[in-house]
Amino acid sequence: MLAKARPAVRDVLDLGCGGGHVAAHLKDRFRLTLVDISEEMIEVSRRLNPGCEHVRGDMRSVRLGRAFDAVLVHDAADYITTEADLRLVLGTAAAHCRPAGLALFAPDHLKDDFRESAGRGGGGDPSGAQASFTEVTWDPDPADDWIRSDYEFTLRGADGAVQVVRESHRLGAFSLATWERLLREAGFDPAEPPAGAGGPGARPPAHLILGRRPGRG
Ligand SMILES: C[S@@+](CC[C@H](N)C(=O)[O-])C[C@H]1O[C@@H](n2cnc3c(N)ncnc32)[C@H](O)[C@@H]1O
Repeated sequence: MLAKARPAVRDVLDLGCGGGHVAAHLKDRFRLTLVDISEEMIEVSRRLNPGCEHVRGDMRSVRLGRAFDAVLVHDAADYITTEADLRLVLGTAAAHCRPAGLALFAPDHLKDDFRESAGRGGGGDPSGAQASFTEVTWDPDPADDWIRSDYEFTLRGADGAVQVVRESHRLGAFSLATWERLLREAGFDPAEPPAGAGGPGARPPAHLILGRRPGRG
């Protein structure tokens, strides 16, 4: 999609880059600047994407003092759970998007089509260590803007020692109308994906919300 965008995209700011797995797919085609609040995650991304600039920062407040052709908030958008914080993140995106630049948000959940779900997964490595997890995602209160994912991880070391770790994540689930209203407030025009975006074999994110800054590129 970024490759098909017009005006052409070269410089991309990835907010909430995590371990840099999305960036790893983009770095050959775009000049990436990667921001995350966690030094540990930045360290993982640095190892995967050594040629990219990394900055530790909070996507609600970071200001790099320069503008990009596109700002991407992939699944880190899930960690925004209040309208006030979403407004701040959109403000950060607007502050770093040049005129006619694009902002892309890929939240896993929208209030409009949220369904409870359960899943499991896992794997092992050649040493014999194994990890498996179960996940249940549900909505404690449909009136608010967040849902909950409860995880249970079972970690079995190569020596057979077993550790069970439980985590609950609070994740944002705003309505599309809220996204669009706050995008407009931040100075973006809600936009459609460019024609021909995606392509054979490409799996689109669950939700893709686009805003374009007014002006000429
Ligand atoms: C699911 S991970 C992102 C994974 C990433 N898309 C990848 O390709 O590896 C979510 C990331 O968002 C980061 N994050 C959460 N809140 C943040 C904030 N306020 N500012 C910056 N990063 C944040 C977390 O530290 C975490 O690394």
